[in-house]
Amino acid sequence: MRISRRAFIATSAACSTLGIPAWATRMQELVATSGEVQFAPSDYNKTKIWGFGGTIPGPEIRVAQGARVQRRFVNDLPQASSVHWHGIRIENAMDGVPGLTQPVVERGDHFDYDFVVPDAGTYWYHSHNQSWEQVARGLYGPLIVEEATPPDVDRDITWMIDDWRLDDTAQIAGGFGAMHDNSHAGRLGNFVTVNGDANLRLEAKTNERLRLRLVNTANARVFELGFEGATGVVVALDGMPLETPEPLERVILAPAQRADVIVDITAHSGDGAALFMQDRDAAYALVEILVSGEMSKTARGPVLPLPPNPQTKLGALSDARSIPLLMEGGAMGGLRSATLRGESLPMGDLVAQGFVWALNSNADMPDDPLVSADLGETIRLPMTNQTAFPHGMHLHGHHFREVQSDGSLGPFRDTLLLNRGETREIAFVADNPGKWLLHCHMLGHQAAGMKTWLEVA
Ligand code: C2O
Ligand code: CU
Repeated sequence: MRISRRAFIATSAACSTLGIPAWATRMQELVATSGEVQFAPSDYNKTKIWGFGGTIPGPEIRVAQGARVQRRFVNDLPQASSVHWHGIRIENAMDGVPGLTQPVVERGDHFDYDFVVPDAGTYWYHSHNQSWEQVARGLYGPLIVEEATPPDVDRDITWMIDDWRLDDTAQIAGGFGAMHDNSHAGRLGNFVTVNGDANLRLEAKTNERLRLRLVNTANARVFELGFEGATGVVVALDGMPLETPEPLERVILAPAQRADVIVDITAHSGDGAALFMQDRDAAYALVEILVSGEMSKTARGPVLPLPPNPQTKLGALSDARSIPLLMEGGAMGGLRSATLRGESLPMGDLVAQGFVWALNSNADMPDDPLVSADLGETIRLPMTNQTAFPHGMHLHGHHFREVQSDGSLGPFRDTLLLNRGETREIAFVADNPGKWLLHCHMLGHQAAGMKTWLEVA
């Protein structure tokens, strides 16, 4: 008998009942679920967290540049959720923004993510629903895309830096989305971990060369990081290689920002070495580096730049459309009114509905995009932070460059820190079709109004 194509399809649709092996049809799963981590000393209870795979951070996804990532996201949380692949120039339908690019994934449901990674570098994934709570509870993990020819280092290590707000019993404090946090600096924590460990240690040798991928996964804290007992260079920011590596001094990371650094251990056996954070006048070791032995007698040669990623070149800036973005609101911001869902409301009414920030006088997602860009169009976006707080502005689906005051272009980035009172301009080629968020990555600010979107078609 000849099997017609139609009959064949009908037969294969029934395969699951024929006991087809699981590997043949199923994607690898990425399950958001609850878990427990021993954050505090062992005389405290373990801390209950939400994590991908129930761990902090979630499982590392590491692939070659140009490879395809396929994960079935399974939601085993008590809330609806989604996954955003931060910094990946992704197909819009895979960007993980509920209500804009996909339906929210309800408890018990799943969603199949399937995309290609065009750029090498350090990225991360995190929940993009109720993120001010879900990311604060631990829903994030690393997504590392390897260069075809990786740099010559002895080890490649990812450090995801987070601050948690823990109560006296070492549990994650409630009060997510509290207006006091949202209207000020955001939900700052009181307990810092690296890869979910408050006392992370690394054993290393003198003259060992390490590639360290630093990721700020905190809800709101801007980390100022430094090294002791090591020297080196910054080779990439937000995943994107710097044309010329920069000497490593202090690394400032806003929430969601990344820095790839290549360091050589200069400390000798028994000397102190560390990754530390500076907080006002005090410095705290985040990772203690225990040095014993030597990798080599002499220091290594200079670090070469990483190979560039295939980014579209910016068009002529003088011809580009310029869309100014005014950032307003928050405590001590003096905002009197803003538009919420098409209605102009006084500040008191906005606050009563949980909103306190505005972009171009609009709180929360506007019905219309900030800009509808033509595919391939170069857009300039001068942003003015007229608030009393810093903000880390993140654009989905693209990398931009900062147009510096002398007209030169900064490195490619996906998140830019604007301190209070600053105006900084970015420019990018709208080369990725779809609907893309632009929002503050201080997640409570995003929740309280600081978000908008762009359309590229
Ligand atoms: Cu890292 Cu819109 O998010
Ligand atoms: Cu903000």
